[in-house]
Amino acid sequence: MDGTGLETYRYEALAAELEGMVERGILCPGMRAPSLRRAARGAGVSLSTALLAYRLLEDRGVLEARPKSGFYVTDRRDRTRPRPAPSRPPEEARTVTLDGGVADMLDLASNPAFAPLGCAIPDARLLAAGGLDRFLARAARVHGQGYNIYTERRGDAALRRELSRRALRHGHGLAPDDIVLTCGCTEALFLALKASTRPGDVVAIESPTYFGLLQILEGLSLRAYELPTHPERGIDPEALSRALVRGGIAACLLSSSFNNPLGCLTPDAIKREIAGILSHHGIPLIEDDIYGDIHFGMERPRPFAALAPGADILTCGSFSKTVAPGYRVGWLAAPGRIEAVLRAKFGVTLCGPALPQKACADFLSTGGYDNHLRRVRRVFAETVARMSQAIDRSFPEDTKVTDPKGGFVLWLELPRGLDSRVLYQAAIRERICFAPGPLFTATDRYRNCLRLSCGHTWDRGLERSVERLGELAREMME
Ligand SMILES: Cc1ncc(COP(=O)(O)O)c(C=O)c1O
Repeated sequence: MDGTGLETYRYEALAAELEGMVERGILCPGMRAPSLRRAARGAGVSLSTALLAYRLLEDRGVLEARPKSGFYVTDRRDRTRPRPAPSRPPEEARTVTLDGGVADMLDLASNPAFAPLGCAIPDARLLAAGGLDRFLARAARVHGQGYNIYTERRGDAALRRELSRRALRHGHGLAPDDIVLTCGCTEALFLALKASTRPGDVVAIESPTYFGLLQILEGLSLRAYELPTHPERGIDPEALSRALVRGGIAACLLSSSFNNPLGCLTPDAIKREIAGILSHHGIPLIEDDIYGDIHFGMERPRPFAALAPGADILTCGSFSKTVAPGYRVGWLAAPGRIEAVLRAKFGVTLCGPALPQKACADFLSTGGYDNHLRRVRRVFAETVARMSQAIDRSFPEDTKVTDPKGGFVLWLELPRGLDSRVLYQAAIRERICFAPGPLFTATDRYRNCLRLSCGHTWDRGLERSVERLGELAREMME
């Protein structure tokens, strides 16, 4: 204390300033508050004064301290709001026949004239901020011709080594030779299915599920058995058991974390249970871990393969949701089935582009990817929180929305009777794009549901689009 009361004034002023930022939504629930050092520097006060301000906000419930991580804005969203109900698809296999809805939506979603709520693609500004392009330029400058080659069958060895190191961080022991690099996660899913099924087979999947996966199933003449899925916990292991006992399922394909579109995160114990059930029936598990790095909590959730070592699990991933949708660099880790995967790959793409693989390897090895992840996680968490708030205040009263702990999509359940495809037509006339619910199933359901992408930095334009969409839904109710 300096005896003048000045310090009291300073820490209270800093606390009031931070509290104002929370009230105005500049700092969002669940977001990390500026570090003490940064706040102290910004306000021109000492570290101990900044700490006093943070402690005051902690006492008021505005911030919460997390050990070894700093201060976070307390998440005071109404957790008691009803969430979308667990799905209850018919317990039978369906042939997948998709109409042109996905293609139409993808065309509009990549059109910059439309509000970007349709495709789950990260904001181009965020991608640029990552600086991966500099690694690509350097690789081209330094080794250009050396990378104008067919890569070895599994793809760039340095990138596979980096991926193997990263997998180990979350307990997934993988040798670089267990990994095959692919053209995005799409090729990884395709190869995994090709290596573990035959045309006509049935694959058990979540419901709702990513429409691209349905397209792959259709392309490989596979049928879909949709499983009841809880919007927070994922598939119901008992329903999986029942389906396996009945027989006829050749493989199971689930997302590892934050599935698209529900954003659900299956707890480790249930993941272990699911892996055990599948092993018991001798059924391979293909997991899609594309959203695993986008966790809002402290720890990256572990994929099934890390929790059930030695099980027949094929893990798919890519950089598309975090830093490089256009580089088309993905991977498939399939320790028990590598030869079948390589054979399948030979007949599809032979090998992937060497230069983007090299750029990704350098980006990972220098720590650039981790820095970038920290930033994008913050942006996605903020957009998810603020979009949820905008939905709460502008959509019809009984709208339910998911509360994902990672990824960047929200799934909305509108009041019964509202058809998201009709809403889609109205929204498109106003240059707002989103993904109607029926795209996410092979069973003609989820008409009153829709998915909104939160992959963009929150701004007034995005807010206005969400509010207008809510208004259109209200008008449809009238
Ligand atoms: C769950 C899921 N898996 C796979 C993909 C496709 O990924 P990629 O662009 O790497 O092929 C997407 C893209 O939207 C996705 O949401």
